[in-house]
Amino acid sequence: MTVTVKARHPALGAEVRGIDMRLPMDAETLRLVSDAWMKHLVLVFPDQHITDREHVTFTRHFGDVEIFHQTSDRVAEIFLVSNVDEEGRLMRPSEPSQKQLSSSQQWHTDSSYRPLPSMGSLLHGIEISRTGGITQFINMYLVYDDLPESLRRDVEGRRARHDFGMLHRIVGSTKPTAEEQAAMPPVWHPMVRRHPVTGRKSLYISSIYNDAVEGMDETASAGLIADLTAFAAQPKYMYRHEWEPDDVLMWDNRCTVHAVTPHDPNERRVMHRTTIVGREPVTAA
Ligand SMILES: [Fe+2]
Repeated sequence: MTVTVKARHPALGAEVRGIDMRLPMDAETLRLVSDAWMKHLVLVFPDQHITDREHVTFTRHFGDVEIFHQTSDRVAEIFLVSNVDEEGRLMRPSEPSQKQLSSSQQWHTDSSYRPLPSMGSLLHGIEISRTGGITQFINMYLVYDDLPESLRRDVEGRRARHDFGMLHRIVGSTKPTAEEQAAMPPVWHPMVRRHPVTGRKSLYISSIYNDAVEGMDETASAGLIADLTAFAAQPKYMYRHEWEPDDVLMWDNRCTVHAVTPHDPNERRVMHRTTIVGREPVTAA
């Protein structure tokens, strides 16, 4: 089958056809997909009727798969982005897991609170929303290139802190246990990073985890993260993905941020995610 790659937005996002994730992938196809990923940052694979096991196997072409501490009972590598519990019951927005998921409505990059943040994520839309639930992505290379001088001065050579515990403060989700805190202490990452594959510089922030900026007090830190996020969130840097059932999206967490739009909580939305473990620390540019 011929593999085709077609851009969906000038900034980022491309559709890849001619791949069946249930089948083994040869070296040439893997190279083609990897190159398209580095070029377009977000790949959309339509019509992938995959099981969780096939999802994990496909993900392993690109690296090791993260096992999240709050994982599905069924397949340890699958992170549930879902408002339906394992018994098929619709969960209320006030439930802890839903509060935590609601943080994904704010711009972030996955697992940035780890010393080696995630390289990328693959999200499989199983039951998709028609009332919202659009996943939006920003090309942070372009954002860095276009940063106004005042913001550029503030981020060059600086680090920001990323703390998993921030989620609890911003969306009122369950406070991390002492064990979780010990396993995930806050980490400092450069705000301008160099991509290990493309060599390009990008802005690296994650507003749901950033609780401090080096050399700034709390108010100034929060103000800077808000200003940077607002500058980044311009349509010219953004691809908005409107889901179809069995789309699989694959994005690069090193040079993009994403956020989902709200949707009617009475509508079921079930998505399964794998997360690729990062191979190296964040390198300052
Ligand atoms: Fe996310």
